[in-house]
Formats: sequence, C-alpha cells, structure tokens
Amino acid sequence: MENKKMTVIGAGTMGRGIAQLLSQNHASVHIVEQNRSALEGTKQRISELFESASSYGLISESEIDEALGRITISDNLEDAKHSWLVIEAIPENLALKQSLFQSLEEICASDTIFATNTSGLSINQISEPLKRRERFIGTHFFMPADIIPLVEIIRGEETSDEVCRQVMKFFKDIHKEPVLIRKDIPGFIGNRIQHAMAREAISLLEAGIATAEEIDTVVRWSLGVRLLFTGPLEQRDLNGLDVHHHIASYLYKDLENRTEPSELLSEKVQKGELGIKSGKGFYDWDQESQADVLQKKNGQLLPLMKWLRQQG
Ligand SMILES: NC(=O)c1ccc[n+]([C@@H]2O[C@H](COP(=O)([O-])OP(=O)(O)OC[C@H]3O[C@@H](n4cnc5c(N)ncnc54)[C@H](O)[C@@H]3O)[C@@H](O)[C@H]2O)c1
Repeated sequence: MENKKMTVIGAGTMGRGIAQLLSQNHASVHIVEQNRSALEGTKQRISELFESASSYGLISESEIDEALGRITISDNLEDAKHSWLVIEAIPENLALKQSLFQSLEEICASDTIFATNTSGLSINQISEPLKRRERFIGTHFFMPADIIPLVEIIRGEETSDEVCRQVMKFFKDIHKEPVLIRKDIPGFIGNRIQHAMAREAISLLEAGIATAEEIDTVVRWSLGVRLLFTGPLEQRDLNGLDVHHHIASYLYKDLENRTEPSELLSEKVQKGELGIKSGKGFYDWDQESQADVLQKKNGQLLPLMKWLRQQG
C-alpha cells in the first residue's frame, strides 16, 4: 500500500472523504481539483474529517499528521501520472466523465486502473470511448465515504477478472466491505433499493398518510434498526417466505409504482426547496448550518461504526 500512488479527481463531498480514507490507510494520495478556491480549502476540510475521526479514537493525533502528509493536491491532471489507481469523483455528467478518462488514458501508464464513483451512470457508457476498457471499473462509495463501510464494485462488460480481483482485494485490505456487482445496471443495488423506499415514502407523504417525521420514525425505529443486522432477504427468511408471499399477493398492487418523480418532489425542486442546502426540503433546516448538521450526523455514525467493528 505504501508504495502505491493513488489519485482522486475532484475534491468535493465524495473526493475529500475518499482521499481521507486512502491516506488513513497509508496510501500516497494525490488530489486533482480544477476549481482554485475548492482546491485551497481542501487540506483544511480533510483535516476536519480526521479530527472528527480522532475524537472517537479511530485515529491518533500523530497518525493524522502522517496521513495528511501523504496527501498532495494540485489542479494539474498530469500529476495523476504513475498512479496505480485513479478514482474519479467529479459531477454526475456523462460527457464530463468520458472526457476526463480520455485525457487520463493519455497521461497514465497502461496498467493504471481507472475507477468512477458515479452514483448510477452506466459504467459501460462512461468507458465507451476508452482504449483500455478492461482496466475500467465502478467503485461506488456511500456518503460519508470514509465512514460507511460498503463500496459497490461494478464490473463493466470489458472489465478484466484481474482488475476485479485487485480492486476487491484492495478494499478488503483497507477494511471496507466491497461487493462485486456483476452487471452494469442503473443505480446498481444500493441506489435501486434506496430509491424504491424513497418513492414509497414520498408517496405516503403526498397522500397525507403521515408527516415526514412520522414516516421517518417508522422506518428508523423498525426497519432501520433491524437492517444493520439482517438484510431484506435474510429478514424474509426469518419472517417466513410463506408469510411474505401472502402479504405480497395483496400488498404489491397497492404500492407506489410511478415511473416519473412525483408531483410533490418536482414541485419542491421547482420552488428551490432542495433540502439542507437551501434551508428547506421535507423538513425546515433554518436553525442549524449545513456543516453543523452533517458534523452531528457523522458524529453519531462514527461511534456506531467503531462498536460494529468491535462486534466483528
Ligand atoms: N454526494 C453524494 O452523496 C454521492 C454519493 C455517492 C456517489 N456520488 C457521486 O460522486 C461524484 C461526485 O459527487 P460529489 O457530491 O462529491 O460532487 P461535488 O460537486 O461535491 O464535487 C465535485 C468536485 O469535482 C470538481 N471537478 C469538476 N470537474 C473536474 C475536473 N475535470 N477535474 C478535477 N476536478 C473537477 C468540482 O470543482 C468539485 O469540487 C458524482 O458522480 C456523484 O454522483 C455522490
């Protein structure tokens, strides 16, 4: 790991967390960020992520200095040269991502692995213009990337077995939970399930069945707690497949199955009610700043992750 240089492209929400994770695991990390002002604040913001991890005993103060020392930052894509792995975390735009990887192919050696953190764009489409598609793969982190253990590893139609093996091994070595998604499918697994649940939750809200807070309470204190220990399929086995089959036979036909975003969601977006970043979404967020809320949520996740690790 110490001898492997890795490059993260884009120092936004995800790129900073990915860079922190890699450097915490002893990799030399170079970050390429094209926006000058974002670039200047990057080290400070990564340092804050480390401080937060340190306050829960996940990293010591001396390790923070060493980890920060392994991170370099520039706005020059040429600095991705000599990387073993390049992880792209730039905005979710197909043409932008394709053009970036085409440039990277000109810069990097033929054995560099290229990975995209796309939330759901097609791995096959992003890699379509590339010459070395066998070295291209999806590595989908969940926010915050340094804390949430899972990484979806998405195999493109040309991704080689060897690249899948190396990337899976790498994430296991740094104590992530990588899962290989064998086929490039929109939204992969996590976002398909997340969106199916969100579509139903928004529909319940729209129909006036309960408030946003009540719907969230039902999910958090029932499914949410259980889902940490049993996935939806394992839970079906615990409940009994005959029971599930019976409920499915009358309930499925009543579930939300619309194929476009709902009127409520579209209306909110049109009004600029975008959630925490605009001060209003399904909730009002005007009491606390965005940074405070995110820090508080991460602060709740960190000790939980520590406890889960202790449980093995
Ligand atoms: N935010 C999330 O919760 C989340 C979760 C999983 C996956 N993703 C995916 O990760 C990717 C990044 O998302 P984000 O939320 O970090 O975005 P962001 O907007 O916070 O950050 C993107 C950064 O990339 C920089 N950038 C743009 N073009 C660049 C280029 N050519 N070279 C270098 N830097 C460039 C921008 O200046 C910006 O700082 C997207 O594909 C997104 O769908 C996001």
